[in-house]
Amino acid sequence: IGSSNGCEKTSFVFLRQELPVRLANIMKEINILPDKLLSTPSVQLVQSWYAQSLMEMIQFLDKSSEDQRILSNFTDALITVRNRHNNVVPTMAQGVIEYKEAFGVDPVTNQNVQYFLDRFYMSRISIRMLINQHTLLFDGTTNPAHPKHIGSIDPNCDVEVVVRDAYESSKMLCDQYYLASPEVAIQLVNRKASGQSIQIVYVPSHLYHMLFELFKNAMRATVENHESSSFLPPIKVTVALGNEDLTIKVVIISGRSKTQKPRLFVSAFSSKPFPSLEDSHNAPFAGFGYGLPISRLYARYFQGDLQLYSMEGFGTDAIIYLKALCTESIERLPVFNKSAWRHYQVSTEADDWCVPSKEPKNLSGYNSTV
Ligand SMILES: Nc1ncnc2c1ncn2[C@@H]1O[C@H](COP(=O)(O)OP(=O)(O)OP(=O)(O)O)[C@@H](O)[C@H]1O
Ligand SMILES: [Mg+2]
Repeated sequence: IGSSNGCEKTSFVFLRQELPVRLANIMKEINILPDKLLSTPSVQLVQSWYAQSLMEMIQFLDKSSEDQRILSNFTDALITVRNRHNNVVPTMAQGVIEYKEAFGVDPVTNQNVQYFLDRFYMSRISIRMLINQHTLLFDGTTNPAHPKHIGSIDPNCDVEVVVRDAYESSKMLCDQYYLASPEVAIQLVNRKASGQSIQIVYVPSHLYHMLFELFKNAMRATVENHESSSFLPPIKVTVALGNEDLTIKVVIISGRSKTQKPRLFVSAFSSKPFPSLEDSHNAPFAGFGYGLPISRLYARYFQGDLQLYSMEGFGTDAIIYLKALCTESIERLPVFNKSAWRHYQVSTEADDWCVPSKEPKNLSGYNSTV
């Protein structure tokens, strides 16, 4: 809508239908979570936000798109919804932690909760993307700093600029926390137009989010693994643009690793103690354990991916894959249907792999409560 000079009315008519559909899809999925998780105060709160927002959105279904007042009420309603949902991620994470502390974790429920969280956070990314596009495109102004942006999309997003921005912010935090930080060395490989800067059509804030999380992790691992030496090896970043993929590799040499092997992409399993939510004005350097899982969702949202390759005792490569062509960067959305529902119903009775010296693990005592 934004790139074709579409009007606010078209966007309004689309969103008043699409937003309730997306909200309702994920609300159905929240409803089939285990009762004990659903009844935690945090999940109750999140559920009430979704219910309230759904009610507010469906009020516009029978309203006239010709009335300017309705259009501006709709924009206000979108902003209210966006603000109401600002703290959904930490609140949901808090709910999962409360549940795990009170009832422990069994492998089946754990798998279900992971499956749910990925879909839930992805749905949220998509809903916020739609809301941001509408509010940015139709607030009657152009963004003075970025007049060429279409809402939150930059048709010529310069990847190196975003890499440097993310590095600088992470460096600032790292300096505050550890009083030192590694340098960065950036290499650009443009296979489409040799020697030129690397640009793609992308949402810079999404790319920034992913890179900022990778840099924070990379700096923490570098500094903590070189406590006894005065030299910190630089973080090496390679940005490569091919015909299909744009790949960003963030490499660190961690040296002899003292930390335990990381549990990656498993929300709420951070290797740092969980920071308190009250401290949110003072952003912690690490500790929620959803830096990587959420970054990977941002990458996957536009058909990309994020992978980590670790060589214990040597270092870690983190790689972001994005689609180089905007025609391939299309939304990836969870939908609530029978297949999704069935996912929550699997009850594993016994592990189908075993270590020969041990009996197969009996999971029958762990029947899913959903
Ligand atoms: N480059 C890396 N080298 C070594 N370990 C890493 C690296 N990146 C991540 N890890 C490990 O993976 C864990 C999970 O990372 P993740 O970013 O998801 O959570 P976190 O950094 O602990 O908390 P936050 O949500 O604040 O980012 C980290 O705690 C760390 O132990
Ligand atoms: Mg992190």
